[in-house]
Amino acid sequence: MKPVIESVCEKYDLLPLKENGYQITKEFLLSVIEICVEFIKKSNDRSTKVLDFHQPDQLMQVFDFAIPDEPQNLDQLLVDCKDTLKYQVKTAHPHYFNQLSCGLDIVSLAGEWLTAAANTNMFTYEIAPVFILMEHFVLKKMREIIGFPNGDSILAPGGAISNLYAVIVARHAMFPEYKTKGLKALPQLVLFTSEHSHYSTKGAGATCGFGTDNVVEVPCDFNGRMIPDELERLVKQAIAKGHRPFFVNCTCGTTVLGAFDPINPLADICEKYNMWLHVDAAWGGGCLLSPKHKHKLAGIERARSVTWNPHKLMGSLLQCSTGLLIDCNQMCADYLFQQDKHYDVRFDTGDKVIQCGRHNDIFKLWLMWRSKGVSGYVKHIDHLFDMTQYMVKKIKEKSDQFYLIWEEPECVNVCFWYIPKRLRNVAHTREREEELGRITAKLKGRMMNAGTLMISYQPLGDKPNFFRNIISNPGVKEKDIDFMLAELDRLGHDL
Ligand SMILES: *Cc1c(COP(=O)(O)O)cnc(C)c1O
Ligand SMILES: *[C@@H]1O[C@H](CO)[C@@H](O)[C@H](O)[C@H]1NC(C)=O
Repeated sequence: MKPVIESVCEKYDLLPLKENGYQITKEFLLSVIEICVEFIKKSNDRSTKVLDFHQPDQLMQVFDFAIPDEPQNLDQLLVDCKDTLKYQVKTAHPHYFNQLSCGLDIVSLAGEWLTAAANTNMFTYEIAPVFILMEHFVLKKMREIIGFPNGDSILAPGGAISNLYAVIVARHAMFPEYKTKGLKALPQLVLFTSEHSHYSTKGAGATCGFGTDNVVEVPCDFNGRMIPDELERLVKQAIAKGHRPFFVNCTCGTTVLGAFDPINPLADICEKYNMWLHVDAAWGGGCLLSPKHKHKLAGIERARSVTWNPHKLMGSLLQCSTGLLIDCNQMCADYLFQQDKHYDVRFDTGDKVIQCGRHNDIFKLWLMWRSKGVSGYVKHIDHLFDMTQYMVKKIKEKSDQFYLIWEEPECVNVCFWYIPKRLRNVAHTREREEELGRITAKLKGRMMNAGTLMISYQPLGDKPNFFRNIISNPGVKEKDIDFMLAELDRLGHDL
């Protein structure tokens, strides 16, 4: 292939207008797809590395990031595409356990490609008729699964934004005068969330003007679940100060431990004190698809808003997240959403969101769900939990090498320390925990340099650094877990 883009103008002619334009276009795109498919093949090959780690200054030396003065030809662009993937971490590799979203669903990927080709914006039915109706159907299905017969929802750019929507909706529903009068119209509102909350809660407190001091962290039990009695005690304390407790954030699947807050007792307290119950099931929401695991979210239908990220346990491509939404952002932007259009304007979604344009996140999820059907998702979710059980069992068998921090994980998070030879058969004291914490960081460094495995780590509460392993790639098999445990020992035994 030797097309050359001689000038910017000609670039616009490249495709069908130019002589041979169609052929050139097709060859170029098929070559890009071939590069992607090659990358996917490598990602699924257990004998390849997960990453080829470079420090930022090294990467700047081996990769050409500069924007050139002159146009580059298509062959060069294909080289650029190849190089980009060469240094990218293979997040679909079965030895990548680092993040809440692991793996790469091929059908969802095809959906993302088609979405990009359609290149539309999700604000009106006028410009995205099929996608808008698709979103309508899938979100209705998700609300039915939660147990919300009425209600409304939207796909938002991530769980953090969905959670922010929940706070805004709650404020509007409970204090509608805020919309026109601002914060002065409100008593001091107080939000409650578990002490293990993801950092974004404080963000909502700051963004919405409640003040981060008014986001109260509720203590958790040993397994990381919010303690209802503690919530009630803190609610009473806020009332005694003359404040108005208004929002309780219940997490189903915490980021580190994967704990599920007990919804029913928290819902009872919310009813008693007239507070809005939000369930952040960004992580754990996928369990609702499995008859065997959905009991973990018992009571979720009592929530008034829910966040659920299909790009996590459900394995859809990034990004795909939903939060319940009602009419609060409707400022009636008539210039965009004329109410006298010739079709049912209830299908225009642009007026419901604080963004203007909205990315099409529905097609990749719809296509993937079609490919699996309801029964396929039961298998998908159950498999992730079966693999987690297998890992827990293996770790317990090797208790000289691994220290399991929470013995009965509720989600697919497994938290543990690796124990090198010199610390085996040593009493488990505070000093040993601190030493294991230091070893965790060193072992992660060795892992990255070897490029054979990726598992993330962090401290939590009084626990120094420990590994948090995630099994959310349905391609993970028992042999991958065997490999992981053996590889940790190979890399770390002499630390
Ligand atoms: C991942 C996660 C979020 C944030 O979701 P993003 O899509 O990354 O914005 C919020 N809450 C919980 C519990 C999560 O696991
Ligand atoms: C609720 O808690 C979750 C995780 O524990 C956090 O991510 C989220 O930001 C919180 N949301 C709100 C609205 O407080």
